[in-house]
Amino acid sequence: MGGSRRAVYVLAGIWVIIWILLPSWAGAQDSENISAQTRGCLGCHQTVTPGIVSDWKNSRMAKITPAAASEKPARQRRVSFDSVPENLGGTVVGCAECHNLHPDTHDDTFSHGGTDVHTVVTPEDCATCHPVERQQFSQNLMAEAYGNLMDNSLYEALITAASGPMKFTGTKLTQKAPDAETNADACLFCHGTKLKVEKIEERDTAMGPMEMPEISGWPNQGVGRINPDGSKGSCAACHTRHRFSIKTARKPDTCSQCHKGPDVPAYKVYKVSKHGNIYSAMKDSEEWDFSAVPWTVGRDMEAPTCAACHVSLLDSPGGRVLAERTHRMNDRLGWRIFGLPYAHAHPESADTSIIRNKNGLPLPTALDGTPAEKFLISEKTRVERTRTMQQVCLGCHSSSWVSGHFRRMEHTIDSTNAQTRTATEILQKAWDAGLESGPAAGGRPFDETLERMWVESWLFYANSTRFASAMGGADYGVFENGRWHLTRNTREMMELLELRQKTENR
Ligand code: HEC
Ligand code: HEC
Ligand code: HEC
Ligand code: HEC
Ligand code: HEC
Ligand code: HEC
Ligand code: HEC
Ligand code: HEC
Repeated sequence: MGGSRRAVYVLAGIWVIIWILLPSWAGAQDSENISAQTRGCLGCHQTVTPGIVSDWKNSRMAKITPAAASEKPARQRRVSFDSVPENLGGTVVGCAECHNLHPDTHDDTFSHGGTDVHTVVTPEDCATCHPVERQQFSQNLMAEAYGNLMDNSLYEALITAASGPMKFTGTKLTQKAPDAETNADACLFCHGTKLKVEKIEERDTAMGPMEMPEISGWPNQGVGRINPDGSKGSCAACHTRHRFSIKTARKPDTCSQCHKGPDVPAYKVYKVSKHGNIYSAMKDSEEWDFSAVPWTVGRDMEAPTCAACHVSLLDSPGGRVLAERTHRMNDRLGWRIFGLPYAHAHPESADTSIIRNKNGLPLPTALDGTPAEKFLISEKTRVERTRTMQQVCLGCHSSSWVSGHFRRMEHTIDSTNAQTRTATEILQKAWDAGLESGPAAGGRPFDETLERMWVESWLFYANSTRFASAMGGADYGVFENGRWHLTRNTREMMELLELRQKTENR
């Protein structure tokens, strides 16, 4: 009791000194537009976390008020609220304007510097000024990435097969499910952890003891993170704190953190594609502008990045609209080329844990390739979405180039699916003969040797081949994790099956 009261006096003392020193620093800014609360934060954090303060000072949000931002012409607006949020219109978006929002809904709220602060700034907080982006993102597979993995019994088995600790018992190999720290360092690093406030603890800081939350699953910026206010996702997965710059989001490096492969090699194929080559050559030139809104094809850039094809608001120099911005990125995706285990039409709902195939398994396709149609978009929607994507291409290509590209991609979807069917038939034979134990026998389908070879055939090689076909980078469709490996692996599965049938006499 006495100790914490003394800490309060010490803090109050520091606080007064900061208020005296503050004007000399704040004078460099347009101080009238910074709220009193944020000035309080800056006073301490200029010393405690100078990196955060300077990053924020260089961001757009430190320079313009929501009210002024909302007056820009429609296609140049970077805020999407209908009416300026109460009490927030007249000051720039500072520390307090994000970290003090909705204190009642946040389990991580703590009393700090005389205000109610929370550590984790969630999509729900950003929605105060960016409601459209938040709403769209909630319908993106990414927002559901935690539950899509953790609420699906089959994928949980995949987690264990990949990261569970193994023990040799003298005769047998056993494997347990990985613990929470391992998951946070592995699958959930990208998919997102579940954040839980364990307790409010006293922490020793540079400014003496302070009470702050201890949050399990933290730090994490996975796309489907479960937040302490119950919301899903982290906008900071692509909009890194505290600059929140559109430049970062538009560059492929940002996506590369999670989309690299070998299961999801979008970045790798892009990097070696013609589009990626032009990006590499031009990104630092004066001619390309990564900040302009809208992003004008033929003026701001001449080859697409991930963002241009999947997210961006794109115009032509004449003002023709090529694409509306979307954070529900499946607006432009007809297919799910990421096979589970077959490529299929895109799922209807971002929550894929609700899907059941014809055998009752939580997968979008059955093991014989039949899609779980009830849970996938219709043929009509699939064609519409492909057209939306093609509008982007048509800003730089003619229609025959574009239709030829998609015809070839769909052919690759068919041929790689057929290859997955062949591998599955070999595995099915092993299951039928009791050599390995599949779902029908109550076993996990991903942990034994033939099963793991089967997983590699669709998860690595068929996927890689399709990603190369969709986004360029032919080597990843052939010798680098592509068709060569797909056929080699199938042959080796067959040989192992024959060998084991002989030696195990089944
Ligand atoms: C009296 C000085 C002081 C003031 C005023 C202050 N902070 Fe802090 N803040 C600190 C210190 C010290 C830390 C601890 C840093 C550490 O853990 O090393 C901290 C930590 C934080 C954290 C991280 C908490 C965590 O869980 O790790 C956040 C977020 C934060 N402050 C935001 C704010 C905001 C927003 C304001 C203004 C509303 C503010 N601070 C005002 C001194 C202050
Ligand atoms: C636009 C909203 C926004 C503004 C403005 C903002 N923050 Fe943050 N802050 C975030 C987000 C988002 C995170 C990342 C945490 C997460 O993933 O949710 C974060 C994280 C933090 C953390 C913990 C991260 C770490 O590396 O330890 C601290 C401390 C912090 N902010 C302090 C500040 C301070 C000080 C200011 C003012 C200079 C500020 N923030 C302004 C949104 C904001
Ligand atoms: C109180 C209102 C408010 C909140 C809360 C807020 N923003 Fe902003 N945001 C703005 C304003 C104002 C701008 C600048 C608009 C302009 O320059 O025209 C902006 C700009 C942006 C930009 C564009 C930056 C650029 O370089 O073009 C991004 C990205 C962004 N915000 C993301 C976020 C994220 C993520 C959060 C939550 C962590 C958030 N914002 C919270 C008001 C807000
Ligand atoms: C480096 C980041 C990263 C890590 C680590 C990661 N994933 Fe993923 N995961 C992704 C990406 C990206 C996608 C989306 C692929 C696509 O649609 O092209 C994805 C999608 C999935 C899906 C599809 C879910 C659905 O229904 O939509 C499953 C299943 C999956 N991952 C399993 C796992 C497992 C199991 C682990 C851990 C062994 C794991 N992932 C680790 C990035 C990652
Ligand atoms: C922190 C990791 C992470 C980052 C960064 C990231 N993604 Fe993802 N992305 C994922 C995961 C995980 C999934 C799959 C979620 C699932 O299937 O449940 C995914 C799915 C997707 C999807 C499929 C969405 C849908 O609804 O069909 C697209 C498209 C995508 N990402 C594009 C991008 C782009 C473009 C960037 C960069 C601007 C990016 N991602 C950055 C992790 C990430
Ligand atoms: C997977 C990556 C990714 C995630 C996660 C993401 N964004 Fe974005 N965001 C982008 C990309 C890429 C752009 C650039 C779009 C463009 O060029 O028009 C963008 C643009 C924006 C802009 C417009 C900026 C401007 O200058 O006009 C805002 C505002 C924004 N995002 C807010 C959010 C919010 C709020 C969230 C969380 C709910 C979020 N974003 C999550 C990738 C992402
Ligand atoms: C030239 C445009 C273009 C560029 C650039 C591009 N993509 Fe794609 N992307 C596509 C097309 C086309 C598809 C397949 C569309 C479909 O499935 O209907 C696709 C599919 C995807 C998918 C969906 C996979 C699935 O599960 O179905 C993800 C994720 C993705 N791209 C991420 C990225 C990332 C990350 C980058 C940058 C490193 C990138 N893309 C660059 C056009 C592009
Ligand atoms: C902003 C302009 C732009 C957009 C948008 C764009 N491309 Fe391209 N694309 C180019 C340029 C420039 C080249 C290089 C042409 C050359 O090498 O002569 C290219 C090359 C290609 C190539 C040739 C690859 C090779 O190595 O032979 C294909 C295929 C292609 N694009 C398909 C697409 C598809 C499909 C889309 C839409 C999903 C698309 N592009 C969107 C500008 C663009």
